[in-house]
Amino acid sequence: MSQFEKSILITGGAGFIGSHVIRRFVNNYPNYHIVNLDLLTYAGNLENLTDVENKTNYTFVKGDVMDTAFINQLFDKYQFDGVIHLAAESHVDRSITDPLAFLNTNILGTVTLLNAAKDHWKDFSGKMFYHISTDEVYGSLGDEGLFTETTSYDPKSPYSASKASSDHFVRAYGNTYALPYIVSNCSNNYGQNQFPEKLIPLFINNIKTGKPLPVYGDGNYTRDWLYVVDHAIAIDLIYHQGKSGDTYNIGGFNEWKNIDLIKVMCSIMDRKLNQPEGTSEGLITYVKDRPGHDRRYAIDASKINRELGWKPTVTFEEGIEITIDWYLNNSEWLENVTSGEYLKYYQKQYS
Ligand code: NAD
Ligand code: DAU
Repeated sequence: MSQFEKSILITGGAGFIGSHVIRRFVNNYPNYHIVNLDLLTYAGNLENLTDVENKTNYTFVKGDVMDTAFINQLFDKYQFDGVIHLAAESHVDRSITDPLAFLNTNILGTVTLLNAAKDHWKDFSGKMFYHISTDEVYGSLGDEGLFTETTSYDPKSPYSASKASSDHFVRAYGNTYALPYIVSNCSNNYGQNQFPEKLIPLFINNIKTGKPLPVYGDGNYTRDWLYVVDHAIAIDLIYHQGKSGDTYNIGGFNEWKNIDLIKVMCSIMDRKLNQPEGTSEGLITYVKDRPGHDRRYAIDASKINRELGWKPTVTFEEGIEITIDWYLNNSEWLENVTSGEYLKYYQKQYS
């Protein structure tokens, strides 16, 4: 008999959002055993979790969500009550150059986990498969309107096509096998520990090192930004109080045109680096657009607010300051992830 009330598998826990979810669950639920399954790809970094790595209710396991035998062994060993599935290839630009990697991890990986849950959970009572997805599955908006939970899917990049497919598989397992599930679709996250290929950390790092800031196309693309800890809070709420078979949209009520956001970041960076206003903006370089670039995303998060009482706790002004300070104060982390040093270390430790 386990000493823990629940056993939960969190996949992709060494990544950006996953590490914030792991931290929240390990600290807030000492009566749960949290198993973090992560392949430690370029995007997964155990340095994100040094503060919880020795907690008795936390176990890290290196492995691939596509490895059926290994996933089955994990389900046998840990007798999971719930799965919170974040492991994915997550960067749109990489999906354009290597779509198959996205098909494999995001679709095959999700179906492998679904099969394991279906086969091991003889009794579905008290079980939950919670799939973390993106607003990109809804496609692109014009100047008006918001994505709601009933907006039709219209994915336009290989990344969003793979996430849309995985969402459909999750719902299909709910419909076909009565597997208890929830899907949430969230807008753009930012915050500590995001790999510096995504807009905000890439631009902070480039300003810090005096490199050009590559603005795609005309820069008038719009994204709805949410501080990552607020996403982790939403995931906690949805896992515990969400309705099985339901979908929740999560967003920041915080739309920015890329170029406006970049100029705000430039101004904060000038202040923090004690350099004349305008220095960072001088690095802005308009470059060739991303192929098939979605023009605008914006989430209507009124359902999760109405039904579960969630709303962002951190304003964008606060969140961006915290984020920039974190990157400025964590040069070693930044150097390790950009040089691949952490990969060498952890791949060796877990080989
Ligand atoms: P990330 O790229 O930072 O992390 C992904 C993690 O998954 C990494 O730790 C990586 O090692 C792991 N991983 C990759 N392939 C794996 C495999 N085959 N087996 C096991 N682990 C594997 O991603 P993120 O930005 O933290 O996104 C996490 C999830 O949230 C993804 O499913 C993504 O689609 C979704 N999402 C992200 C955002 C965002 O703005 N970043 C917004 C909405 C939804
Ligand atoms: O909306 C949620 C999605 O947000 C998540 O599902 C994805 O995992 C996450 O990567 C993110 O996708 P985006 O493509 O919106 O994020 P990215 O940071 O790559 O780009 C944000 C915007 O900035 C987008 O309009 C493209 C633009 N951009 C990006 C980069 C990296 C640039 O102009 N220059 C750049 O160098």
